[in-house]
Amino acid sequence: MALDFALERTSTPAGDDRIAEALAAPGFGRVFTDHMVTAVWTADGGWGDARVRPYGPLSLDPATHVFHYAQAIFEGFKAYRQPDGTIATFRPEANGARFVRSAQRMALPALEVEDFVTAADTLIRLDERWVPTAPDASLYLRPFMMATEVGLGVRPAREVTFVLIASPSASYFSGGAKPVTIWLSEDYTRAGAGGTGAAKCAGNYAASLVAQQEAIANGCDQVVFLDATERRWVEELGGMNIFFVLDDGTLVTPELTGSILEGVTRDSILTLAKELGHEVEERRVDVDEWRKGIETGRITETFACGTAAVVASIGALRWHGGEATAPAATPVADEIRDTLVGIQQGRVPDSHGWMHPVP
Ligand code: COI
Repeated sequence: MALDFALERTSTPAGDDRIAEALAAPGFGRVFTDHMVTAVWTADGGWGDARVRPYGPLSLDPATHVFHYAQAIFEGFKAYRQPDGTIATFRPEANGARFVRSAQRMALPALEVEDFVTAADTLIRLDERWVPTAPDASLYLRPFMMATEVGLGVRPAREVTFVLIASPSASYFSGGAKPVTIWLSEDYTRAGAGGTGAAKCAGNYAASLVAQQEAIANGCDQVVFLDATERRWVEELGGMNIFFVLDDGTLVTPELTGSILEGVTRDSILTLAKELGHEVEERRVDVDEWRKGIETGRITETFACGTAAVVASIGALRWHGGEATAPAATPVADEIRDTLVGIQQGRVPDSHGWMHPVP
């Protein structure tokens, strides 16, 4: 049975001035709307207590499971203002379906995709003043689920909380659309066979941070990980999938091996690239194929993709003692980005039914 979301409006909604100020330069994930959604699952009663309520702190006991054993997952997708003033989200059902798969991997309860989408629709409609109109800005939706049972026994929690917050956001990288420099992590890996790499669980991101710190220390924006077994096959960045463009126009992306996140943007790009006339290959890519490919000109472009950054060209790959710099022109990444963002902003026909109008 579908969840019913009880509505409790804030008594202190942000004034128009505050919203205008927040939307003028939102950055990424720094400001949040007036409301949030919460729902609680118990092993005995299933999902219930679904509410849209004023945005604010959660009060949790120090012995709450999630603080200790990281049984937590999240999602990210965006709502866009359309040319006619209406609002639409991009592929929310795909994120909802992945949320179910992540939950299964982390021994958390599944939230029905229908409830996931309704939660977002309800929050967006209530906080629609926060949906930016500026090009390249959107309302980023962050659903998450965590173990909120109190106690220190290591086992799947018998009480779990779902929360959805929303944040007006612009460019993910502070440098805007300029190409990013990537650090090759040779000491750390992100995920191994049988691990949680394909789940969007909080721990994967925690595990990436020390390598990300190393990236920053070496003057890079982001880190790229290799497989944990052979330390040879390119997997993904700290929070984004990766694509290579070959000199004959073919797009190559690492195949899904179970340790790579099944990106919704990755999937959308595979579809769009074919329509734009590119061959696409999902296969393993050796890091030496990448390094040498830049040198020989076989690889003409590399780009990262994800919901937050959409498509970010990679200008250089750096490692201990070396660097390979890609050509400055990125026509294929630009074409893919323009098409994808065009669909999201309602400027390019949505022939796949990816846009979900917010009722
Ligand atoms: C996304 O691209 O949406 C990501 O997953 C990165 C995010 C953790 C900021």
